[in-house]
Order: sequence, then structure tokens, then C-alpha cells
Amino acid sequence: MPAIAYLECSRCHARLSADTPQTLCTQCPDQPAGALYVRYDLTHLQGRSAEEVVGNDPTSPWSGMWRYRAVLPDVEPVTLGEGWTPMLRSKRHPGAFLKEEGANPTGSFKARGLALAVTMARHYGLKKLAVPSAGNAAGALAAYAAAADIEAHIFMPRDVPLANYVEAMAYGANVTLVDGVISDCARIVGERKQREGWFDISTLKEPFRVEGKKTMGYELVEQLGWEYPDAVFYPTGGGVGLIGMWKAFEEMEQLGWLKPGKRPRMFAIQSSGCAPVVQAFNDGAAASQMWQNAETAASGLRVPKAYGDYIILDILRASGGMAVAVSDDDIFASLRDWAANEGIFLSPEGAAATAAYDHLLSTGVLDASHRVVLFNTGAGLKYTDVTAAALGLKHPGGA
Ligand SMILES: Cc1ncc(COP(=O)(O)O)c(C=O)c1O
Ligand SMILES: [Zn+2]
Repeated sequence: MPAIAYLECSRCHARLSADTPQTLCTQCPDQPAGALYVRYDLTHLQGRSAEEVVGNDPTSPWSGMWRYRAVLPDVEPVTLGEGWTPMLRSKRHPGAFLKEEGANPTGSFKARGLALAVTMARHYGLKKLAVPSAGNAAGALAAYAAAADIEAHIFMPRDVPLANYVEAMAYGANVTLVDGVISDCARIVGERKQREGWFDISTLKEPFRVEGKKTMGYELVEQLGWEYPDAVFYPTGGGVGLIGMWKAFEEMEQLGWLKPGKRPRMFAIQSSGCAPVVQAFNDGAAASQMWQNAETAASGLRVPKAYGDYIILDILRASGGMAVAVSDDDIFASLRDWAANEGIFLSPEGAAATAAYDHLLSTGVLDASHRVVLFNTGAGLKYTDVTAAALGLKHPGGA
């Protein structure tokens, strides 16, 4: 595992030390301050193949996302078995692969980012972490904080999927339910954190959630035989996974593991009830506007303004991808379709990706020969209340 060389600002490229916990760039001349990227000196890996560095030893104690420890910080992990999730081949679409992130601990891809963020928090000796969450980050933080004996302070909308509330309570987190959406939760954390002594691990306001989620980029490439797919479909709220995967691609090219110039087209998928990135992309804007009255049953996509919108938009454009909105009706139609015809029970967010894939196939943006990775970012089983309501099902026992 490499030592962190420095943290680099995504806006002004200032270098900050990782010796103490950092949040956002302190050197940016303009606000909002840039998010920070973790940078390592990886020269010792130059000239070594991906297979050799990552290895395939079944007896290695470094399993899951920690198989990429050569490109992760050199600290003792807090782990619950996150990462190395299945890459399933679609039965009906020969070019489509479904990355099943519901197989992670706490049933979502949030486990990767929070495993690393909590790992680093423990390393720095932080005792109280706070997070505004659409739901799944709350569950993941609560689990990893419990594993690391750290306090978790969670702020989430009152109407989160029931599973997110139940898991956070069971893990013993301090849970505050907010009448509003994630941006209202973020405001409360921002107002109280100094007084309460909380370290804020909001999306992109510290560098390690992106760093954990970058393992999805390494992993999808490894699972495709160390080759890029043609496109990646990512259900986008705060965009951490998209940003993390792009960072992984950059690192793999620097290491000589992949040829530059062939990166996948990145597609950010949102719900038409909350589509700030889609609107900014279509307007040719560098950043998004706060989306008013955000409403979608895909709770993870109910993010009215992403802190890293400027990075997401850059990546979509640089990759030749685009931002796509799908309606909640299309989301649940696709969810039923994949459940009944593929045996895969998607989260509403994952079904946004599959619905968008159908849409782009039908409009000719992509065709069946393109190799496409669709992210199911959470397990369908975390949303039984939400999906039951959408499908018009009631509890058969009348409860
Ligand atoms: C299941 C699911 N998918 C997608 C997202 C959006 O993730 P990101 O913030 O990385 O864009 C979330 C966020 O809560 C989520 O829970
Ligand atoms: Zn800066």
C-alpha cells in the first residue's frame, strides 16, 4: 500500500498535506472551494502489469475492494467485506453487463466510500462523524462507524426507504429525521458541526469517499479482462462513483495498465423529478442550478445540487457521454422487466440505469454491439416499501 503523497484540489490544483484530516481546499481563490483528490507516488508500480500488482491469490487476506490496496492508502482497513461485486451478463442484451453493487455490506455501493472514509477517520483519531444522506450512505456510515467504535450522526429525510432508517437505528447511530431533502440535511450538518465537534463526511467534502468508490473503476475493468467497456451507466446523485471511476481510469493509464484514448463514454442517469445535472449538461453549463421541489421514488437520486457538479459535467463531456433523465414510471417498468425477465431485483436507482439503456438503444445512441456496464447501485430488497407502493402492492397480512 502506498503512502499518500498529497491531496490535490480539483479546482486550483493546490497541494495539501494528508497528515491531518482535510475537508475542502483551503487555497481556492474563489468559492465554492474545490474537492480534494488523493495522490500517491506510484512510480514503484511502473513497468509492473495489473495482474502482477493486483494478484489472484485465493489465500490472500486482502479480499474485496482491498485487492486494490496497491492504489489505496497505507492504513489498517475497517472492513465488512465490501467490493468485488458480481458483474452479471444480461440474458437478453449481449453487450450489457450489470454491476451488482447490491451485494455489498449494507446493500449498496455506499459501503466502498464509507469503508475508506471510516478507515481514514479511525487512522486520524476522529471520534464523531456526521453525514447528510439520501439513505444508503447513512446505513453504510452507521455500519462502519459501529465497526470502528466511532460515533455516527446521521441526518436524512423523514421519508427515506424504511430499510435505511431501520439499519441506522440498529447500528446504534444518532439519527435525525429531517422534513426536507438531502440539501436541507447538509445545511443542518454545516450549521452544527463546529459546535458539536463533528467531522463532516458529506459527499466530496472529504477526499476518501471518492477514493473508496474508485475501486468500482478498477474492478469493472478487471472483470472485463483489463479492458474498458464502451460505456458506463451510473445513476447519479452526488456523482461520487462517477468521479471515482474516472480517477481510477486516469491512474490505470498512468500505470500503463490501459491504453489512453479509449475511455468509456460516461452516462449520468437521473430521474426527471430531480435532474439538475441533465439540465446543466443540456444547457452547456459548467455547473448545475439547485433543482426545486425534487421528487422521485429513486431516493438516492433526490439530490437537488451536487457539490461536485462541475467535475461530473467535465467528465461527461470529456468522455463523449451524456446526462439522461428517465421518469419514475419508466424506472418501475424497467424494474419489473429486469426482475421478471432476468431474475434481478434492481433498486429504483439501478432501474433508472436500465431504463436509460433501453432508451438509448431505441434512439440509436448505442447499439447492441456496444459493451455497456449498467450499475445497480443498491439491492432491490432495500426498497420493498417503495417498490410495493409503486407496484400497488400492500402487505398481505394487512400490516
Ligand atoms: C442506491 C443509490 N444509487 C445512487 C446514488 C447516487 O450516488 P452518488 O451520490 O454517488 O451519485 C445513491 C445515493 O444515495 C444511492 O443510494
Ligand atoms: Zn483549490
